[in-house]
Amino acid sequence: MTERTEAETVAYTVTDRIAWVKFNRPEKRNCMSPRLNRQMGRVLDELEFREDVGVVVLTGEGTSWSAGMDLKEYFRETEAQGLGATRQAQREAYGWWRRLRWYQKPTIAMVNGWCFGGGYGPLFGCDLAFAADEATFGLSEINWGILPGGGASKVATELMPFRKAMYHAMMGENIDGKTAAEWGLVNESLPLAQLKERVEQVAKVLLAKNPVALKATKDAIRRVREMTYDNAEDFLIRAQEAANSFDNDGRKEGIKQFIDDKTYKPGLGAYDV
Ligand code: ACO
Repeated sequence: MTERTEAETVAYTVTDRIAWVKFNRPEKRNCMSPRLNRQMGRVLDELEFREDVGVVVLTGEGTSWSAGMDLKEYFRETEAQGLGATRQAQREAYGWWRRLRWYQKPTIAMVNGWCFGGGYGPLFGCDLAFAADEATFGLSEINWGILPGGGASKVATELMPFRKAMYHAMMGENIDGKTAAEWGLVNESLPLAQLKERVEQVAKVLLAKNPVALKATKDAIRRVREMTYDNAEDFLIRAQEAANSFDNDGRKEGIKQFIDDKTYKPGLGAYDV
């Protein structure tokens, strides 16, 4: 086929407040070129504050979620242009993964197939992750002679126990979706045929929750990982008070529907937002 335009490297649709964003270079197994990275940055910008979007799902067209960085366009061709171009390509890639980590809306990785190396950046960027049993995960960097860079080593140690992370990084052996779930890379793994339905179900639960509380919660869980207990305690008080300035009524309504109206129980479900 003829080369995709930059705009075509990412596809998305919005249905019932769920944005389905796809890596869209299936013929290249959705590996991340500088053009794809730039386009993903634009798409995330476009969707972040749209009223009709409540959850973003990141998935891949074809047999791959993402085969990692584009060895030709991201590494070889960029390096040939010198250090400035290399740093720019890194900024563009790391930039959208960082955007994902602190995204306004809840994000879900729906890993439908191959997921290698640099793909671990956006995988970790997403708040939740669901994989097909048939998916394949690998830190293949060692297989072609580099260390797992671009955050991949960090992702491995954030998500997996030390011995698993070390084995995964040093051996260059792939694991399937089920093992990825056991090792902590994803929340769950299920047959590919059921993957979308499950992700949709999770997205719908998130859509029914208070969006201010969700953003505060996802940021809190990421931030406190690196804090002492006392710092976390202090941060969480301040974070909740800051959230109140955006939505104090929601919190009061949540209490009222439980204590006064008796229309729901917080231990068993969410209040009517
Ligand atoms: N970079 C550049 N091109 C790639 C990449 C990649 N990461 N992955 C796939 N492609 C290209 C292939 O070169 C091929 O191009 P061509 O049609 O012009 O020859 C095309 O995509 C299809 O790839 P195949 O290898 O033919 O697909 P297959 O389904 O047989 O295998 C697999 C899929 C296993 C994912 C294989 O493509 C592969 O090993 N890719 C590299 C995975 C990897 O190690 N990525 C780097 C991780 S490290 C990092 O990201 C820093």
